Amino acid sequence: MSVEFKTVLAPMAGYTDFAFRAICRDYGVDLTVTEMVSSKALVMGSELSRRMLYRECVDKPSFCQIFGHEPDVLAASVQIPEMAGYEGVDINMGCPVRKIVGSGDGSALLENPRLAARCITAVKLALKGRLLSVKFRLGISDSSGAVDFAKMCADSGADFITVHFRTRKQMYSGNADYTLLPQFAKLGIPIIANGDVASREQCLRLFDMGASGVAVGRGALGRPYLFAELKDEHFTFDVLRSIERHAALLLTVFEERVVANEMKKHVAAYLKGMRNGKAVVVEVMNAHNLQQIIDPCRAYFETYPSLRSIVK
Ligand SMILES: Cc1cc2nc3c(=O)[nH]c(=O)nc-3n(C[C@H](O)[C@H](O)[C@H](O)COP(=O)(O)O)c2cc1C
Repeated sequence: MSVEFKTVLAPMAGYTDFAFRAICRDYGVDLTVTEMVSSKALVMGSELSRRMLYRECVDKPSFCQIFGHEPDVLAASVQIPEMAGYEGVDINMGCPVRKIVGSGDGSALLENPRLAARCITAVKLALKGRLLSVKFRLGISDSSGAVDFAKMCADSGADFITVHFRTRKQMYSGNADYTLLPQFAKLGIPIIANGDVASREQCLRLFDMGASGVAVGRGALGRPYLFAELKDEHFTFDVLRSIERHAALLLTVFEERVVANEMKKHVAAYLKGMRNGKAVVVEVMNAHNLQQIIDPCRAYFETYPSLRSIVK
């Protein structure tokens, strides 16, 4: 498979579940990525982690994102049977969360490029020809080592990189700074640019600067149709139908209690910015079961039928 992913759904823990990925697929996303999954938990047989690997067959191509810092564990995790359906694997080397960094995972690897290189090489070998990407941030508090880190990824076997153009120190605040993008682009390894992408214009600007593709995170939450917008394609998005479908898909794998919990944040995203939507979100957040989440959404769109469909 060649590396031609113009639009990518960025991995988001707690959000890019298999149902949301399938819905983004309806709107033309080129590649989806799972939530980050612990390589150690996978190898130790955690049922919860293995369930995170469930995917809809329409959601293709898709990568599984793993985190960890032990080359042999990372390599073993990509060889478990549930991983076989994924077209590739992404290694998380950007997560800034304290618990992850404290264990030596995520962005801790930015500080240890030698170990990061061993992780990449081990996973690439274990993948036996399937694609490997690495996702990382510009650096810890500045971007001085970013291009070297990217080069190391390429030399160690990554097929492409996804760069979140913020430092770890920035967490999710401030703007993504794309100054270095043209330098990354000169390395010869495809680069997926990530950070604040929310419009076709911005997407085209990043392509002009040398990006092979863009990865969208928060901009796609509640707005999976953004991927059609990025490609300037026509679409119809039925908000209520999407909420119902999202819940129904999750119910095929998870018990109702889990689905209700998951759906609360998704409904908040789907209704974000809608007229009088906040009151519904408050009601949904206090729900005790799925029915108490779906019913207020149905009632809302009965009151505001014109808000239900977004057409372009
Ligand atoms: C709620 C949330 C969860 C995230 N989880 C992950 C994750 O599991 N793995 C990862 O590499 N990045 C994760 N990220 C970072 C995103 O993939 C992305 O790099 C970041 O949000 C910047 O892109 P954006 O400005 O388009 O949101 C997460 C971000 C958010 C907001």
